[in-house]
Amino acid sequence: MAKKVFIKTFGCQMNEYDSNRILDTIKKIGFIRSKSLDESDCFILNTCHIRDRAKEKVYHEIGRVKQNFEGKKKPLVIIAGCVAQAENTEMLKREPYIDFIIGPQSYHKLNNTIQNFEKNKSRFEITDFESESKFEYLRKIKNDSSKISSFLTIQEGCDKFCHFCVVPYTRGPEYSRPFNQVINEAKELVEKGSREIILLGQNVNAYCSNENGRQYKLSDLIMCLENIYGLKRIRYITSHPRDMSSDLIECYANSKKLMPFIHLPIQSGSNKILRLMNRKHKVEDYISIYHELKKINSDIEFSSDFIIGYPGETEKDFEDTLNLVKNIKFFNSYSFIFSPRPGTTASSYEQIDEKISKERLKILQAELFHNQKLKNKSFENNYTNVLIENLMKDGEKLFGRNEYMTSVILNGHQDLIGKVVKVKINNSNQNSLSGEIDINKIEAA
Ligand code: SAM
Ligand code: SF4
Ligand code: F3S
Repeated sequence: MAKKVFIKTFGCQMNEYDSNRILDTIKKIGFIRSKSLDESDCFILNTCHIRDRAKEKVYHEIGRVKQNFEGKKKPLVIIAGCVAQAENTEMLKREPYIDFIIGPQSYHKLNNTIQNFEKNKSRFEITDFESESKFEYLRKIKNDSSKISSFLTIQEGCDKFCHFCVVPYTRGPEYSRPFNQVINEAKELVEKGSREIILLGQNVNAYCSNENGRQYKLSDLIMCLENIYGLKRIRYITSHPRDMSSDLIECYANSKKLMPFIHLPIQSGSNKILRLMNRKHKVEDYISIYHELKKINSDIEFSSDFIIGYPGETEKDFEDTLNLVKNIKFFNSYSFIFSPRPGTTASSYEQIDEKISKERLKILQAELFHNQKLKNKSFENNYTNVLIENLMKDGEKLFGRNEYMTSVILNGHQDLIGKVVKVKINNSNQNSLSGEIDINKIEAA
């Protein structure tokens, strides 16, 4: 009988992609996916270390698993992802219920590790940085997790060392997958039904692969994906302002499939804070990218990440951030209070009062959410292009997203899944739109 694996994922889209690839890999040694923890033989927790209480969350989850399996045979318990990489042996020492620890760059060793563990029961950790071997291994295993909108990791790791961030320590140095490996995986996904591909990387626009005397960049990938028949939409996430090169900006003029929506985190509207963060870009650089893109296509919209209450942030620095948000009306954005991460430069800086940070975050989010509501309201009584992704749980309504990743709910037949349709929007709120399909404007799939 097949063994069952239950996987729980925290963190970014790259962790989601990794979890799907772990499932593709582990199938080779007889595991099938279980939707419930209760009946699983193996529990994998794919963890995120980006903000506070990451470690505690892991121990809390293990506590729940222990409770679930009290008096029953214990499942194999594996901790994967960025906390696994950062904490490694510490976790094995503190929690005997964990069987082994595997870092994000070592998933190609997962099957052997499970098989060895089943034989000799010795607990250990694998946390080498081996991106090349990982992707070389994954290349030979079909990506079976295609959805209408699929993630595809093209780049891992980061060399930028922003002073607040753990990613360079948990994901290791920047690595770009070979060009053809990426294109082949994209073609495979489209053959299996994907209509949108979201290229992923911690610094996706730093993608750079040197092969046979030629350099391939993100712009080359986009323009090559453009020619895949059946693929309708291309997106990429997360990009860094420093890597918004002119060839990438030109893609917005040359590609019909690249969506007019870019997630480009700025973190702060104050140059002083950007310097203290070691971001190596200025507010002016960001604004100039904004204008360049708007000149190409005025419909292009931006979203961003903000860190509030970074050490040294004064009332004036915060106001600079607030003014930036008032000027660039971001479509939607993520904002967080600074969380000191172990081992990062900023963790030793003097922290600012939490009450002040919370108050500032509230003010910033009120502005961001206000903009978001207005943007969504502007769709009302207008048409928006929606890629239909799935039937909703109620079995009646369809779910899709427009060019700006806004969720759209509509009536329609499930034959429309995978098609781009024009939808007349009747209602909007902060997070979604709803409307009616224009049956005369359904693109050929
Ligand atoms: N590479 C992207 C960039 O440079 O913009 C960011 C990737 S990071 C995984 C996602 C977001 O988490 C960051 O943009 C930042 O806003 C947030 N973040 C990272 N470290 C943080 C920390 N120590 N405290 C609060 N937010 C943090
Ligand atoms: Fe982290 Fe992004 Fe900075 Fe890299 S560029 S250190 S991933 S915030
Ligand atoms: Fe978290 Fe690691 Fe992603 S720390 S945000 S899962 S790269």
